[in-house]
Amino acid sequence: MATVVVIGTQWGDEGKGKVVDLLTARADYVARFQGGNNAGHTLVVAGKKIILHLTPSGILHPDKVCLIGNGVVVDPKVLLEELDRLQAFGVAVAPERLVISAYAHVIMPYHRLLDLAREARKGHSKIGTTGRGIGPCYEDKVARTGVRIHHLLDEASLRRRLEAVLDEKNFLLTHYYRQEPVDLEAVLDEYLGYGRLLAPFVGDVSTCLNRAIAENRAVLFEGAQGTHLDVDHGTYPFVTSSNTVAGNACCGSGIGPTKIDHVVGIMKAYTTRVGGGPFPTELFDTTGEHIRTCGGEFGSTTGRPRRCGWLDLCVVKDAVRLNGLGSLALTKLDVLTGLPVVRIAVGYRCDGAVLDGLPAEMERIERCEPIYEEFPGWEEDLRSVRRFDDLPAAARRYVEAIRDHVGLPFSIISVGPGREETIVVKDPFAS
Ligand code: IMP
Repeated sequence: MATVVVIGTQWGDEGKGKVVDLLTARADYVARFQGGNNAGHTLVVAGKKIILHLTPSGILHPDKVCLIGNGVVVDPKVLLEELDRLQAFGVAVAPERLVISAYAHVIMPYHRLLDLAREARKGHSKIGTTGRGIGPCYEDKVARTGVRIHHLLDEASLRRRLEAVLDEKNFLLTHYYRQEPVDLEAVLDEYLGYGRLLAPFVGDVSTCLNRAIAENRAVLFEGAQGTHLDVDHGTYPFVTSSNTVAGNACCGSGIGPTKIDHVVGIMKAYTTRVGGGPFPTELFDTTGEHIRTCGGEFGSTTGRPRRCGWLDLCVVKDAVRLNGLGSLALTKLDVLTGLPVVRIAVGYRCDGAVLDGLPAEMERIERCEPIYEEFPGWEEDLRSVRRFDDLPAAARRYVEAIRDHVGLPFSIISVGPGREETIVVKDPFAS
């Protein structure tokens, strides 16, 4: 058995939900380790669609244990609503199947208010956050003023925590952002209520995972967002507030780096991004529109239209290095069907030099001109293809060109949203 980390190689929305759902069949445990309900993983099972924001996608498989690690920021209201939606979907989540780390930080009402107020104040230079309070919650964690899940289980400690932070939060909200203040008693009441409902699920994720690994059980780590939204390695400041790279699977769940066996990088057959920030291969024409429409490229968390563009291998190659990827999973290849030609950026021209990765400085990324390779498109519907050799020749050539440039094999190629619409080249758990 093995531990496998699944990571997005681009700017998120690579189709990780489907791949995780697929790989979950091979896993005993599925863990999230960073991000919060800024993520949205869309899953289609037996023609029915469900979007999960916080619960690991593995929850749809009845015999798997799902874990929310210490590195995740949890909005308890959203989590409880999600558990209700799962119930309505026919998936009852018993406490034996979901463990939430007592160490995970909690998104509080003032985090959401500050996130929205800040973005509104920034105007044109806004990050385009999901408005879920993610950044302010991580700020409090690092500032050592955060509320953790265990605080919700103990009235006295939650009261002490709120008394310590609310003065400053309310000062900021009222005097700087001209918002209404947050009422301590109301927040205390509401969050103790969430604590009572979540208590049966709260546990020690690190111990649980280490025990599972010692017992040779298969563990899947489900990354959220993508490599280039990583707060250290991404297109800063247009990033999220957590480390999205594979290394954080360890910090964010409480296992050591020697326990990871394989990292799969999920890459979409083209590139998208939501929110602001540089995007060298972005398309502003009818091809971009075609990709957006055919790919259903609208945010699963905010509904915002995603910015769409050609596949950028500089972005993917950076992700190979930053995550120590062992294989790739290609998603949404079917979306490119019908385009007369398809292009791949294999490098950039920037200030007279040729680059093969994203530079650090935002202004330089904005001056990067993609160097494209062009391939003939294909007209055939791919969704019924189950073997690589049965792909139309032009689609095969496109996939082979990616593999050759990136220098990694594909373990999975997805040709449609359904679980079965997949070519499994090699099982990552057998790597
Ligand atoms: P935040 O994570 O809400 O603070 O947003 C910061 C940036 O990350 C914004 O550009 C968001 O659009 C982007 N972002 C956050 N979560 C996701 C995701 O799951 N997919 C794609 N983009 C995301």
